[in-house]
Amino acid sequence: MIPKRIGVLLSGRGSNFEALADSVAAGRIPNAGIAVVISNREGAPGIERAATRGIPAKVIPSKGLEREAYDKQVAAVLQEYKVDLICLAGYMRLLSPFFVAAYRGRILNIHPSLLPSFPGLEAQRQALEFGARFSGCTVHFVDENLDAGPIILQAVVPILDDDTPESLAARILKEEHRIYTEAVNLVLEGRTRIEGRRVIHLLAPAGRVEAAQGAAANQVGAKHS
Ligand code: GRF
Repeated sequence: MIPKRIGVLLSGRGSNFEALADSVAAGRIPNAGIAVVISNREGAPGIERAATRGIPAKVIPSKGLEREAYDKQVAAVLQEYKVDLICLAGYMRLLSPFFVAAYRGRILNIHPSLLPSFPGLEAQRQALEFGARFSGCTVHFVDENLDAGPIILQAVVPILDDDTPESLAARILKEEHRIYTEAVNLVLEGRTRIEGRRVIHLLAPAGRVEAAQGAAANQVGAKHS
């Protein structure tokens, strides 16, 4: 099987990128590689981290550029690196309808709250100040709206009485690193089907589901015979 090529877009620290890169290196994301990392901000630590790992790392400054014009530059680089799946990892820009249409169903984002609660900036602070007792993180497909596309996976963490936005963010981040890998695998293996707003998790890649279900039914049958 031809290895799948992941493109990561980021604007800052890059810990989610590193978690994905670690997963690829450890074989937890099998048959895939990170082909390129792109940042819209110069000096983003995530870009340094990518370069240190020997992964092609590009800065495409977004300042002053109209959204679609900028996204066209990004899309050109993603095409050059033959990217199959795009992972947003702390990418602080809304995508243009042009970009979303070009990669529909192939862009994932991670957000540090249980969407649809607390979209946008400072999601951990929003959850804390609202008084929620639980928060968490969400990996979702990206559509034209902010933090709004179909949800692939979520993880829940408690909010403790003595939490600060920073302590809550750290608890959530651990879960982010875990579920982003899981979600990438689901999508790369073709084990998601979108029905309206719902993402159904399949036992096997679409098309092979019936075979898998048949096999499972046989096993159940065998137990009872
Ligand atoms: C993460 O909390 C992610 O959920 C949000 O931005 C933050 C990026 O962190 N979208 P990092 O750059 O991956 O460390």
